[in-house]
Amino acid sequence: MSWGLQNRLARIIKPATGRTVMLAVDHGYFLGPTSGLECPDATCTPLAPFADTLMLTRGVLRNCISPALDVPIVLRVSGGNSVLEEDLSNETIITSIEECIRMNAAGMALSIFVGAPHQHQTIANLGRLVDEGERYGIPVLAVTAVGKDMVRDSRYLSLASRIAAEMGAHVVKTYYCDDFEKVVGTCPVPIVIAGGKKISEREALELAYNGVNSGAVGVDMGRNIFQSDSPLGMIKAVRAVVHENASVDDAFAIYESEKVAGGAALGAGGGLADDAKA
Ligand code: R5P
Repeated sequence: MSWGLQNRLARIIKPATGRTVMLAVDHGYFLGPTSGLECPDATCTPLAPFADTLMLTRGVLRNCISPALDVPIVLRVSGGNSVLEEDLSNETIITSIEECIRMNAAGMALSIFVGAPHQHQTIANLGRLVDEGERYGIPVLAVTAVGKDMVRDSRYLSLASRIAAEMGAHVVKTYYCDDFEKVVGTCPVPIVIAGGKKISEREALELAYNGVNSGAVGVDMGRNIFQSDSPLGMIKAVRAVVHENASVDDAFAIYESEKVAGGAALGAGGGLADDAKA
């Protein structure tokens, strides 16, 4: 692993704790104006100081995020489909490595769809992206198991995560499940967990807690932060769980106190099919 790649990885997974709180705001790449992300700048700017990375597309980065914002960027570089299509797996690489370099990306994110009609294509995409990432020193985050029909048990998630690691992914993003230690234990690269569709704040904090206590290095969480009634409270609470090993009760108290202090909800609904990939 080159020095540059290791350095970028250290900007994503913080060496001080070996963990990360990634804020996922890339949903629009196939969902359009997802609830809470109608105006990405309004959502991201107050949350960015508490995020270890922002995960988003180049279009939102270029148009909505100030270059002065001091937060590492993980660019989503796979796509080419929309929620209007039944089969979401027909993705290709939609952002070049040169663009990632120009945008000073700390990492690149790409989805693989194991078991879906375009499984081969998406796994091959990952192999190619890793080759390019290794050439220029940019780590690759492989996103697994997106799609509402996926059976997210440890057998399937171990399969998908291990394949991602075997293709050379430097970090894997997957979903938490029962027996998650098996998923972590059979994947030789760090795992971050997705948040999934909006659940109660306490449940989302339990998810983060269970994830890191089962071996995940953190979260790449979206809707359970930016669709909360206190996004600021939630990201601070998730940070406490991930970086300070806070209990769920202690983290929930952080969320509640921030909510009382005035952390207003960022989004007001209206997004298309927000749960389509839950
Ligand atoms: C999915 O393709 C995207 O990478 C999302 O960013 C991801 O699912 C994480 O977001 P959430 O926590 O809302 O599930």
